[in-house]
Amino acid sequence: MPVKNQPPRVLVTGASGKIGGAVAAALDGTHGEVIAVRASRRRGTVEKWEQQGMAAVFLDLDDPETFPAALDGIDRVFLSAGYTSAMNEQGKTLVDAAEDAGVNFIVHLGVFGNGRSTDPHFAWHELVERYIKGSSLAWANVHPHVFMENLLTVNRLQNGAFVWAAGDKRVGWVAADDIAAVIAKVLAEGPKVHASHDYFLSTDLLNATEIAAILSSALDREIPAVVITPQELRNLVDAGQVTVPAQYDAAYAASALNWLQQTYDGRMDYSAVVTSTVTDLLSREPIHLAQWAQSHRSELLDQLA
Ligand SMILES: NC(=O)c1ccc[n+]([C@@H]2O[C@H](COP(=O)([O-])OP(=O)(O)OC[C@H]3O[C@@H](n4cnc5c(N)ncnc54)[C@H](OP(=O)(O)O)[C@@H]3O)[C@@H](O)[C@H]2O)c1
Repeated sequence: MPVKNQPPRVLVTGASGKIGGAVAAALDGTHGEVIAVRASRRRGTVEKWEQQGMAAVFLDLDDPETFPAALDGIDRVFLSAGYTSAMNEQGKTLVDAAEDAGVNFIVHLGVFGNGRSTDPHFAWHELVERYIKGSSLAWANVHPHVFMENLLTVNRLQNGAFVWAAGDKRVGWVAADDIAAVIAKVLAEGPKVHASHDYFLSTDLLNATEIAAILSSALDREIPAVVITPQELRNLVDAGQVTVPAQYDAAYAASALNWLQQTYDGRMDYSAVVTSTVTDLLSREPIHLAQWAQSHRSELLDQLA
Protein backbone atom coordinates (compact mmCIF):
# COMPACT_ATOMS: atom_id res chain seq x y z
CA MET A 1 0.00 0.00 0.00
CA PRO A 2 1.64 3.31 -1.06
CA VAL A 3 2.13 6.16 1.40
CA LYS A 4 -0.68 8.68 0.95
CA ASN A 5 0.99 11.68 2.52
CA GLN A 6 4.48 13.09 2.64
CA PRO A 7 5.27 13.43 5.47
CA PRO A 8 3.25 10.37 6.58
CA ARG A 9 0.42 11.00 9.05
CA VAL A 10 0.43 8.75 12.13
CA LEU A 11 -2.76 8.16 14.11
CA VAL A 12 -1.84 7.83 17.80
CA THR A 13 -4.47 6.04 19.87
CA GLY A 14 -4.31 6.46 23.64
CA ALA A 15 -2.73 9.88 23.07
CA SER A 16 -4.06 11.15 26.41
CA GLY A 17 -2.45 8.18 28.18
CA LYS A 18 1.03 7.33 29.38
CA ILE A 19 2.61 5.59 26.39
CA GLY A 20 0.43 7.14 23.68
CA GLY A 21 1.04 10.64 25.04
CA ALA A 22 4.79 10.09 25.12
CA VAL A 23 4.71 8.56 21.62
CA ALA A 24 2.85 11.59 20.23
CA ALA A 25 5.33 13.96 21.90
CA ALA A 26 8.26 11.96 20.53
CA LEU A 27 6.73 12.07 17.03
CA ASP A 28 6.38 15.85 17.37
CA GLY A 29 10.11 15.79 18.16
CA THR A 30 10.88 14.37 14.69
CA HIS A 31 10.25 17.93 13.43
CA GLY A 32 8.09 17.03 10.49
CA GLU A 33 9.51 13.62 9.54
CA VAL A 34 6.00 12.36 10.34
CA ILE A 35 2.87 14.12 11.61
CA ALA A 36 1.30 12.86 14.85
CA VAL A 37 -2.51 12.84 14.73
CA ARG A 38 -3.67 12.49 18.32
CA ALA A 39 -6.87 10.48 18.92
CA SER A 40 -9.18 10.73 21.90
CA ARG A 41 -12.67 9.54 22.81
CA ARG A 42 -13.24 12.87 24.59
CA ARG A 43 -14.31 15.76 22.36
CA GLY A 44 -12.98 18.32 24.85
CA THR A 45 -9.51 16.75 24.66
CA VAL A 46 -9.60 16.82 20.84
CA GLU A 47 -10.57 20.52 20.92
CA LYS A 48 -7.81 21.31 23.44
CA TRP A 49 -5.18 19.68 21.21
CA GLU A 50 -6.50 21.52 18.15
CA GLN A 51 -6.36 24.83 20.02
CA GLN A 52 -2.72 24.02 20.78
CA GLY A 53 -2.09 23.65 17.03
CA MET A 54 -1.89 19.85 17.03
CA ALA A 55 -3.61 17.54 14.56
CA ALA A 56 -6.31 15.64 16.47
CA VAL A 57 -9.33 13.44 15.78
CA PHE A 58 -12.22 11.98 17.72
CA LEU A 59 -12.01 8.18 18.00
CA ASP A 60 -13.78 5.89 20.44
CA LEU A 61 -12.23 2.42 20.35
CA ASP A 62 -15.57 1.05 21.60
CA ASP A 63 -17.42 2.58 18.64
CA PRO A 64 -16.20 1.39 15.21
CA GLU A 65 -18.50 3.94 13.56
CA THR A 66 -15.99 6.60 14.62
CA PHE A 67 -13.09 4.82 12.86
CA PRO A 68 -13.49 5.79 9.16
CA ALA A 69 -13.40 9.53 9.84
CA ALA A 70 -10.47 9.17 12.25
CA LEU A 71 -8.53 7.04 9.75
CA ASP A 72 -9.20 9.28 6.76
CA GLY A 73 -5.84 10.37 5.32
CA ILE A 74 -3.84 8.27 7.81
CA ASP A 75 -0.74 6.32 6.69
CA ARG A 76 0.40 4.68 9.93
CA VAL A 77 -1.35 3.73 13.20
CA PHE A 78 -0.12 3.29 16.74
CA LEU A 79 -2.55 0.97 18.54
CA SER A 80 -2.60 1.19 22.32
CA ALA A 81 -5.48 -0.21 24.34
CA GLY A 82 -6.30 0.56 27.94
CA TYR A 83 -6.46 -1.88 30.86
CA THR A 84 -9.62 -3.72 29.81
CA SER A 85 -10.59 -6.92 28.02
CA ALA A 86 -12.26 -4.74 25.37
CA MET A 87 -8.85 -4.61 23.69
CA ASN A 88 -9.90 -7.73 21.76
CA GLU A 89 -12.82 -6.28 19.81
CA GLN A 90 -11.17 -2.84 19.76
CA GLY A 91 -8.06 -4.25 18.08
CA LYS A 92 -10.01 -6.45 15.65
CA THR A 93 -12.36 -3.72 14.49
CA LEU A 94 -9.65 -1.06 14.24
CA VAL A 95 -7.49 -3.34 12.09
CA ASP A 96 -10.46 -4.00 9.79
CA ALA A 97 -11.10 -0.26 9.46
CA ALA A 98 -7.39 0.49 8.95
CA GLU A 99 -7.31 -1.99 6.05
CA ASP A 100 -10.40 -0.39 4.53
CA ALA A 101 -8.88 3.08 4.93
CA GLY A 102 -5.65 2.15 3.13
CA VAL A 103 -3.38 2.43 6.16
CA ASN A 104 0.00 0.89 5.35
CA PHE A 105 1.63 0.26 8.75
CA ILE A 106 0.42 -0.53 12.27
CA VAL A 107 2.50 -0.62 15.44
CA HIS A 108 0.89 -2.44 18.35
CA LEU A 109 1.67 -1.99 22.04
CA GLY A 110 1.66 -5.51 23.48
CA VAL A 111 3.23 -7.30 26.44
CA PHE A 112 6.36 -9.35 27.15
CA GLY A 113 4.81 -12.68 26.18
CA ASN A 114 6.17 -15.77 24.45
CA GLY A 115 3.36 -16.39 21.97
CA ARG A 116 2.03 -19.20 24.16
CA SER A 117 0.77 -17.05 27.02
CA THR A 118 -2.11 -18.31 29.15
CA ASP A 119 -2.46 -15.29 31.42
CA PRO A 120 -5.64 -13.64 30.04
CA HIS A 121 -4.38 -10.15 29.16
CA PHE A 122 -1.22 -11.62 27.63
CA ALA A 123 -3.45 -13.94 25.60
CA TRP A 124 -5.64 -11.00 24.50
CA HIS A 125 -2.60 -9.09 23.26
CA GLU A 126 -1.38 -12.18 21.40
CA LEU A 127 -4.83 -12.62 19.80
CA VAL A 128 -4.76 -9.05 18.53
CA GLU A 129 -1.24 -9.53 17.20
CA ARG A 130 -2.23 -12.71 15.35
CA TYR A 131 -5.19 -10.83 13.89
CA ILE A 132 -2.89 -8.03 12.74
CA LYS A 133 -0.51 -10.56 11.18
CA GLY A 134 -3.45 -12.08 9.30
CA SER A 135 -4.41 -8.70 7.88
CA SER A 136 -2.98 -6.96 4.82
CA LEU A 137 -1.28 -4.32 7.00
CA ALA A 138 2.46 -4.13 7.47
CA TRP A 139 3.05 -4.39 11.21
CA ALA A 140 5.50 -4.20 14.10
CA ASN A 141 4.81 -5.17 17.70
CA VAL A 142 6.43 -3.63 20.75
CA HIS A 143 6.50 -5.88 23.82
CA PRO A 144 7.41 -4.01 27.00
CA HIS A 145 7.98 -5.66 30.34
CA VAL A 146 6.64 -4.02 33.55
CA PHE A 147 6.48 -0.20 33.30
CA MET A 148 8.61 1.64 35.87
CA GLU A 149 5.69 4.12 35.92
CA ASN A 150 3.65 1.45 37.75
CA LEU A 151 5.58 2.70 40.80
CA LEU A 152 3.44 5.84 40.48
CA THR A 153 0.16 3.96 40.03
CA VAL A 154 -0.57 0.29 40.77
CA ASN A 155 2.68 -0.29 42.68
CA ARG A 156 2.73 2.91 44.76
CA LEU A 157 4.46 2.78 48.11
CA GLN A 158 2.12 1.65 50.87
CA ASN A 159 2.75 3.00 54.36
CA GLY A 160 6.27 3.81 53.25
CA ALA A 161 7.01 0.31 51.96
CA PHE A 162 7.35 -1.28 48.53
CA VAL A 163 4.79 -4.10 48.51
CA TRP A 164 5.23 -6.86 45.94
CA ALA A 165 2.86 -9.78 45.64
CA ALA A 166 4.85 -12.20 43.48
CA GLY A 167 7.38 -13.55 45.95
CA ASP A 168 11.12 -13.24 45.37
CA LYS A 169 11.18 -13.70 41.62
CA ARG A 170 12.95 -11.07 39.54
CA VAL A 171 10.94 -9.43 36.76
CA GLY A 172 11.92 -7.02 34.00
CA TRP A 173 11.23 -3.28 34.28
CA VAL A 174 11.36 -0.63 31.56
CA ALA A 175 10.76 3.14 31.51
CA ALA A 176 7.79 4.57 29.58
CA ASP A 177 10.06 7.14 27.90
CA ASP A 178 12.18 4.31 26.45
CA ILE A 179 9.10 2.43 25.26
CA ALA A 180 7.74 5.59 23.63
CA ALA A 181 11.09 6.48 22.04
CA VAL A 182 11.34 3.02 20.46
CA ILE A 183 7.74 3.15 19.21
CA ALA A 184 8.20 6.65 17.78
CA LYS A 185 11.35 5.59 15.92
CA VAL A 186 9.57 2.55 14.49
CA LEU A 187 6.60 4.68 13.40
CA ALA A 188 8.79 7.42 11.95
CA GLU A 189 11.09 5.08 9.99
CA GLY A 190 8.11 3.05 8.85
CA PRO A 191 7.51 -0.36 7.34
CA LYS A 192 10.51 -0.43 4.99
CA VAL A 193 12.77 -0.65 8.05
CA HIS A 194 10.57 -2.21 10.69
CA ALA A 195 7.85 -4.36 9.06
CA SER A 196 7.40 -7.80 10.67
CA HIS A 197 9.60 -7.01 13.67
CA ASP A 198 8.79 -7.84 17.30
CA TYR A 199 10.66 -5.57 19.70
CA PHE A 200 10.98 -6.78 23.30
CA LEU A 201 11.85 -4.23 25.99
CA SER A 202 13.25 -5.13 29.42
CA THR A 203 15.91 -2.97 31.05
CA ASP A 204 16.38 -4.03 34.68
CA LEU A 205 15.73 -7.47 36.13
CA LEU A 206 14.85 -6.87 39.77
CA ASN A 207 13.14 -8.46 42.75
CA ALA A 208 11.31 -6.52 45.46
CA THR A 209 14.33 -6.26 47.76
CA GLU A 210 16.43 -4.81 44.94
CA ILE A 211 13.72 -2.33 43.96
CA ALA A 212 13.31 -1.20 47.58
CA ALA A 213 17.09 -0.68 47.83
CA ILE A 214 17.14 1.47 44.67
CA LEU A 215 14.19 3.54 45.94
CA SER A 216 15.85 3.91 49.36
CA SER A 217 18.98 5.26 47.73
CA ALA A 218 17.08 7.65 45.42
CA LEU A 219 14.87 8.98 48.22
CA ASP A 220 17.49 9.00 51.01
CA ARG A 221 14.96 7.09 53.13
CA GLU A 222 14.76 3.49 54.22
CA ILE A 223 12.08 1.91 52.01
CA PRO A 224 11.44 -1.64 53.21
CA ALA A 225 10.30 -4.38 50.85
CA VAL A 226 7.17 -6.23 51.92
CA VAL A 227 6.93 -9.47 49.96
CA ILE A 228 3.61 -11.31 49.98
CA THR A 229 2.12 -14.09 47.88
CA PRO A 230 -0.49 -13.62 45.15
CA GLN A 231 -2.98 -15.49 47.36
CA GLU A 232 -2.34 -13.07 50.22
CA LEU A 233 -3.03 -10.15 47.85
CA ARG A 234 -6.19 -11.90 46.64
CA ASN A 235 -7.32 -12.24 50.26
CA LEU A 236 -6.65 -8.52 50.88
CA VAL A 237 -8.66 -7.59 47.76
CA ASP A 238 -11.52 -9.90 48.83
CA ALA A 239 -11.50 -8.35 52.31
CA GLY A 240 -11.69 -4.86 50.79
CA GLN A 241 -8.31 -3.91 52.27
CA VAL A 242 -6.75 -3.39 48.83
CA THR A 243 -8.70 -1.68 46.07
CA VAL A 244 -8.48 -2.74 42.46
CA PRO A 245 -6.89 0.04 40.34
CA ALA A 246 -9.62 2.21 38.83
CA GLN A 247 -8.27 1.86 35.28
CA TYR A 248 -8.66 -1.96 35.38
CA ASP A 249 -11.92 -3.64 34.45
CA ALA A 250 -12.78 -6.79 36.42
CA ALA A 251 -11.33 -9.12 33.77
CA TYR A 252 -8.03 -7.22 33.61
CA ALA A 253 -7.83 -7.11 37.43
CA ALA A 254 -8.26 -10.90 37.58
CA SER A 255 -5.64 -11.24 34.86
CA ALA A 256 -3.17 -9.05 36.76
CA LEU A 257 -3.55 -11.40 39.73
CA ASN A 258 -3.04 -14.33 37.37
CA TRP A 259 0.22 -12.72 36.13
CA LEU A 260 1.43 -12.38 39.73
CA GLN A 261 0.57 -16.04 40.32
CA GLN A 262 2.38 -17.18 37.16
CA THR A 263 5.40 -15.08 38.11
CA TYR A 264 5.34 -16.50 41.63
CA ASP A 265 5.05 -20.15 40.58
CA GLY A 266 7.63 -19.95 37.79
CA ARG A 267 5.50 -20.06 34.66
CA MET A 268 6.85 -16.61 33.73
CA ASP A 269 10.48 -17.60 34.28
CA TYR A 270 11.05 -17.46 30.50
CA SER A 271 10.56 -13.69 30.69
CA ALA A 272 13.25 -13.08 33.34
CA VAL A 273 15.65 -11.53 30.84
CA VAL A 274 16.91 -8.11 29.83
CA THR A 275 17.02 -7.00 26.20
CA SER A 276 19.29 -4.67 24.20
CA THR A 277 16.45 -3.20 22.11
CA VAL A 278 16.80 0.39 23.37
CA THR A 279 20.54 0.43 22.72
CA ASP A 280 20.16 -1.34 19.37
CA LEU A 281 17.50 1.04 18.05
CA LEU A 282 18.35 4.30 19.78
CA SER A 283 22.16 3.93 20.14
CA ARG A 284 22.02 4.95 23.80
CA GLU A 285 21.76 3.36 27.21
CA PRO A 286 18.22 2.61 28.41
CA ILE A 287 16.88 4.40 31.47
CA HIS A 288 17.73 2.28 34.51
CA LEU A 289 15.52 2.28 37.61
CA ALA A 290 18.04 4.27 39.68
CA GLN A 291 17.98 7.08 37.09
CA TRP A 292 14.21 6.84 36.69
CA ALA A 293 13.71 7.09 40.46
CA GLN A 294 15.87 10.24 40.58
CA SER A 295 13.79 11.78 37.77
CA HIS A 296 10.56 10.96 39.63
CA ARG A 297 11.90 11.66 43.12
CA SER A 298 9.28 14.24 44.08
CA GLU A 299 6.36 12.05 42.94
CA LEU A 300 7.80 9.15 44.92
CA LEU A 301 8.41 11.33 47.99
CA ASP A 302 4.78 12.53 47.78
CA GLN A 303 3.76 8.91 48.38
CA LEU A 304 5.47 9.08 51.78
CA ALA A 305 3.60 12.22 52.87
N1 LIG B 1 1.61 -1.18 33.00
C1 LIG B 1 2.40 -2.11 32.55
O1 LIG B 1 3.33 -2.57 33.26
C2 LIG B 1 2.24 -2.66 31.15
C3 LIG B 1 3.24 -3.52 30.66
C4 LIG B 1 3.12 -4.01 29.34
C5 LIG B 1 2.03 -3.62 28.57
N2 LIG B 1 1.06 -2.81 29.10
C6 LIG B 1 -0.09 -2.46 28.24
O2 LIG B 1 -0.10 -1.04 28.06
C7 LIG B 1 -1.44 -0.64 27.72
C8 LIG B 1 -1.82 0.59 28.50
O3 LIG B 1 -0.89 1.62 28.23
P1 LIG B 1 -0.83 2.95 29.12
O4 LIG B 1 -0.32 2.61 30.49
O5 LIG B 1 -0.15 4.00 28.32
O6 LIG B 1 -2.39 3.28 29.28
P2 LIG B 1 -3.07 4.52 29.98
O7 LIG B 1 -2.06 5.52 30.47
O8 LIG B 1 -4.07 3.97 30.96
O9 LIG B 1 -3.85 5.19 28.77
C9 LIG B 1 -4.86 4.50 28.10
C10 LIG B 1 -5.28 5.36 26.94
O10 LIG B 1 -6.28 4.68 26.19
C11 LIG B 1 -7.36 5.56 26.00
N3 LIG B 1 -8.59 4.81 25.87
C12 LIG B 1 -9.12 3.94 26.75
N4 LIG B 1 -10.29 3.48 26.28
C13 LIG B 1 -10.50 4.10 25.09
C14 LIG B 1 -11.55 4.06 24.12
N5 LIG B 1 -12.64 3.30 24.28
N6 LIG B 1 -11.42 4.82 23.01
C15 LIG B 1 -10.35 5.62 22.83
N7 LIG B 1 -9.32 5.71 23.72
C16 LIG B 1 -9.42 4.95 24.83
C17 LIG B 1 -7.37 6.44 27.23
O11 LIG B 1 -8.12 7.58 26.96
P3 LIG B 1 -8.88 8.45 28.11
O12 LIG B 1 -7.88 9.51 28.48
O13 LIG B 1 -10.07 8.98 27.41
O14 LIG B 1 -9.22 7.50 29.23
C18 LIG B 1 -5.87 6.70 27.38
O15 LIG B 1 -5.45 7.70 26.50
C19 LIG B 1 -2.34 -1.84 28.03
O16 LIG B 1 -2.72 -2.45 26.82
C20 LIG B 1 -1.44 -2.77 28.84
O17 LIG B 1 -1.80 -4.13 28.69
C21 LIG B 1 1.16 -2.31 30.35
